[in-house]
Amino acid sequence: MSATATTGTHRTPTAQLWRRLWRFVGPHKGKLVAVVVLNAAAAVADVFSFTLLVPFFNAFFKSDALLPATGTIGTLLNATIGFLLDEQDRMGSLRNVLLIVIAAVTLKNALVWLAGQVGVTLQEFVVRDLRNALYAHLLRLPLPWFTRNKVGQVIARVLNDTATANTVVTELVTRSLWSGAQVIATLVAMFTTSWRLSLAALVIAPVTIGAIQPVLRKLRKGYRRLGNEQGEMTSLVQEVVSGVRLVKSYRAEAREDAKFTARNEAYAKGFVRVGRLALLSGPVTETLGTFTAVIILWYGAQLVLKEGALTGAELLVFLVQVMRLLQPLKQLSQAPSAAQQSLASAERIFDVLDAPSETANDRGTRTAAVFAQSLAFEGVGFRYDGGAAALTDVTFCARKGEVVALVGASGAGKSTLVDLIPRFLDPTHGRILLDGVDLRDIRLDALRSLTGIVSQDTVLFNDTVRANVAFGRPDATPAQLAAAAQAANALAFIEALPQGWDTNLGERGTRLSGGQRQRLAIARALVSDPPILILDEATSALDVESERLVQEAIDRLLVGRTVFVIAHRLATIQHADRILVLDGGSLVEEGSHATLLARGGAYARLHALQFDRRRADPTDADGEVMPAAAAVD
Ligand SMILES: Nc1ncnc2c1ncn2[C@@H]1O[C@H](COP(=O)(O)OP(=O)(O)O)[C@@H](O)[C@H]1O
Ligand SMILES: [Mg+2]
Repeated sequence: MSATATTGTHRTPTAQLWRRLWRFVGPHKGKLVAVVVLNAAAAVADVFSFTLLVPFFNAFFKSDALLPATGTIGTLLNATIGFLLDEQDRMGSLRNVLLIVIAAVTLKNALVWLAGQVGVTLQEFVVRDLRNALYAHLLRLPLPWFTRNKVGQVIARVLNDTATANTVVTELVTRSLWSGAQVIATLVAMFTTSWRLSLAALVIAPVTIGAIQPVLRKLRKGYRRLGNEQGEMTSLVQEVVSGVRLVKSYRAEAREDAKFTARNEAYAKGFVRVGRLALLSGPVTETLGTFTAVIILWYGAQLVLKEGALTGAELLVFLVQVMRLLQPLKQLSQAPSAAQQSLASAERIFDVLDAPSETANDRGTRTAAVFAQSLAFEGVGFRYDGGAAALTDVTFCARKGEVVALVGASGAGKSTLVDLIPRFLDPTHGRILLDGVDLRDIRLDALRSLTGIVSQDTVLFNDTVRANVAFGRPDATPAQLAAAAQAANALAFIEALPQGWDTNLGERGTRLSGGQRQRLAIARALVSDPPILILDEATSALDVESERLVQEAIDRLLVGRTVFVIAHRLATIQHADRILVLDGGSLVEEGSHATLLARGGAYARLHALQFDRRRADPTDADGEVMPAAAAVD
């Protein structure tokens, strides 16, 4: 498995995980208390109903009295149901006791049901809160975090791990409360019947708990690995579904199938391995439980027959109670292994929650950011995590209202440079000044309200045209939206859609052509009207007609704005006020189209390359057509 930054092997101490999970239960403490109280009451009713067997056994064994006159059990029963018993009318007495049994069992089940209701609400509220906290944090994580982590892993954490982590609340808190209450109530009943037998029965318990411990540690590691495997599978499915055209066109179905099969196999194997371990705790408890029963029968028989310390009826009720103890004890002994899975998920969740958010890192205090004069890069360098330098010592100054073009080969650092402007990334060297203020001193949201981006791969949401265009400014009026769409050359096709502005675009806007998507993105940028606009190869993927429409739209977009434009087609940018030529992360040339051409350097060479290509092949198969205006130069 590939080790991504957040799926590292570090382990958080269990106590700390519990404390952190507990914080999510805190707001729902009232419900938790209700669950405890209801379970305790149910356990008392449960044990009481079984103690009522004593008069029955005494009747069968033809004892002199239906209830023992002495001892805790005798006293308790005499105090509660004594008035219902009449030694002269044994059948009538037993009928009365049976009615009480029915009442006690009904009460117990009603209480269990009620506790379950509150428990489920508690559980779902905690998952909800956990999921909300995770999602809210996720949205505020810095951009590089998203490139480091696979989409599938992120989805798995938000959807699966939050639910799994929460079974801590179900398995351990809710159900264990019930089991624990049963165990305590039963133990009290057992000890009041015979403390010597009870001690004998309990010799085994510490052995059970001790024997299970090493298994538990292994389980948690296994579950954590499983969570990662599941994330990897989600990633694969997600990638293939979104890239299904690619898979089909390269006939890669079989290969992708094999990849998935291998992952699935690893997951299944891991699950079996963990399952084997997890299943161990049940049989172990059961076997030890049977030993306990045998010891009780043997020792109990001696107490009854030799010492007369116990009546036969009491021994039988005692045995019934010990047997009834097994189920809750088994559940309690399995709860820690169920918790391991939850704790592994909790670790994966806290990994995300612990990644510092942009807002946490934001030291900016200036909120009323306006762009009045200039944006200056001063000796800016940037290096991706563990990578080579993507930008080195870049210095330039863009004045308000200028169109700044960035040119250079693929990988020259153009996108990296513009990503520094809205602080998707922060420079690793040097600084960027907006009107003389370091970008890091401006609050992120204030800074980002100044910038707009239209990039090559347009992002459209599965929502209406209106919602997509108004994304940056949900309160825009229909007139503003129409004006923006008009300027973006998008109004005509929007109005021709089946439901016009209310048409749902489908996932990622698949119902539209590339050019239409691009024009919607431009309309979106126009609506929010940012003073600084970034166009990262906004026209690169388009056909000639779409490009003309988009280019027109962009020309309107440029008016009165500071624009950073990245374009492969030099024709697009030759009217720029300032052209920056990047090569291997360094700024190698700067000037206007005319100056740079005259200089005969890197820009002139790039230009000649495109110009020659156009002459050699006017149709330019890959779409890199030089419009007529450029060919004139
Ligand atoms: N998320 C990333 N992690 C690591 N390296 C990256 C990342 N994005 C880009 N790079 C590297 O940084 C360099 C500049 O990339 P980029 O700014 O995208 O270039 P351009 O936009 O000019 O094509 C390239 O060498 C690229 O491989
Ligand atoms: Mg790029």
